Amino acid sequence: MTTLWGGRFNAKLDEQAFTLNASLAFDKQLAQQDVKGSVAWADALTQAGVLTQTESKQIISGLEGIAVEFESRSFNFDASDEDIHSAVERRLGELIGPLAGKLHTGRSRNDQVATDFRLWMLDALPVLDVAIKGFQSSLVTVAEPHRFTLMPGYTHLQRAQPVTLAHWLLSHFWALQRDRDRLADLRDRVAILPLGCGALAGTAFPVDRESLTKALGFDAPAPNSLDAVSDRDFAAEYLFCTAMIGVHLSKLAENVILFTTAEFGFFELSDAFSTGSSLMPQKKNPDIFELARGKAGTLIGLLVGLLSTLKGLPSTYDKDLQEDKMPVFQSTDTLMAILPVLAGALETMTVNKKRMLAAIDSFTLATDLADYLVRKGVPFREAHGIVGKAVLLAAEKGASLEKLTLNEWQALGSFDADVYQVFDPMKSVEQRNSIGGTSPLSVEKQIQKANFLIQGD
Ligand code: ARG
Repeated sequence: MTTLWGGRFNAKLDEQAFTLNASLAFDKQLAQQDVKGSVAWADALTQAGVLTQTESKQIISGLEGIAVEFESRSFNFDASDEDIHSAVERRLGELIGPLAGKLHTGRSRNDQVATDFRLWMLDALPVLDVAIKGFQSSLVTVAEPHRFTLMPGYTHLQRAQPVTLAHWLLSHFWALQRDRDRLADLRDRVAILPLGCGALAGTAFPVDRESLTKALGFDAPAPNSLDAVSDRDFAAEYLFCTAMIGVHLSKLAENVILFTTAEFGFFELSDAFSTGSSLMPQKKNPDIFELARGKAGTLIGLLVGLLSTLKGLPSTYDKDLQEDKMPVFQSTDTLMAILPVLAGALETMTVNKKRMLAAIDSFTLATDLADYLVRKGVPFREAHGIVGKAVLLAAEKGASLEKLTLNEWQALGSFDADVYQVFDPMKSVEQRNSIGGTSPLSVEKQIQKANFLIQGD
């Protein structure tokens, strides 16, 4: 078993210690990024006069061969490969001989792995963005025909005021839009190049880190080598973003789970996106949404796990940092798996408009009754008290508010016969017409804004 660092050792590494130390099982996902970084490094060494043009050509064509092997999945990993960097260097040696040994001049796996990981994330961010955008676009598609579909809106999970289903669906769109903004903002901090920082102190060869930055598509070279090889803020931030997305999806999921219960009966999931029980023949379960809710917990755990790893680490690179990649890969895979399935489930579910309308009782219009009095010149605080009395009276009679007689209304305050017109939930919704309100007109404008944000690719 040959390692990249065997020189100062007499005996070989214990087999189980090797297995514990090895990261190939997961960092092989960085294969293409590792080759890309090495090609750029070979160029930088050539410009620095470390490699001749001929050597450079040979090294680069060897690396390109390796890239093709990765692409075609014909690359053979060896039991001695400790990580992806060792695997690529070993293979390069097999392809071009001892010249391969010149590539690692002035470089360490510390700046190399940080570079590979950032390159991976620069590739992953747009892919994740497209997946979130796809989900947002499903929300808009489902919302569009429901601008006039009424449902109770809730606070404290108690019926509060009527809203439209489109408005409720779009509320989840905006949370995800903030997630996309956060990921876009994160890109700037990912695009800082560690390569050329060596193990920790910088490189002793005259490498032009500015042109290396351009060659690899980064924005700027990291300004401090000690910080560069140990900075994993970008990974922690990424995990915050994925955890936040998980939290947002879990909120939507919890609502859908509630709304599909017999007690609510607002939604019914299609067969393609629900599951049955092995025992109870009647069951139709929202497993997909429960998994989304459950995986939010896992996503949060991945963030907390990495933060705990980073806490109190002495500068600079420590092997603890090898723990950074798995949570990032896992959180990405989790979201890429959940998002399209939830979208499919939402797009194919049946909406029971009757049940939703029936759940809007007269008490959800109590605010509209107070507004009615306000329009007649009653100060809001007073109007609130008067309507509160009406609610109490109706509750005592075990009746809905609209069943109170005109005499009863007039005894309470300055109500006229037109008070009964308030008991139209559509009117209530239509009045909430300012920006961000639930009226069909406001929601129409909201949909236009939403569509603008999901246009393109
Ligand atoms: N596999 C290592 C990681 O993921 C690569 C860096 C190893 N550096 C070292 N000094 N042993 O962090």
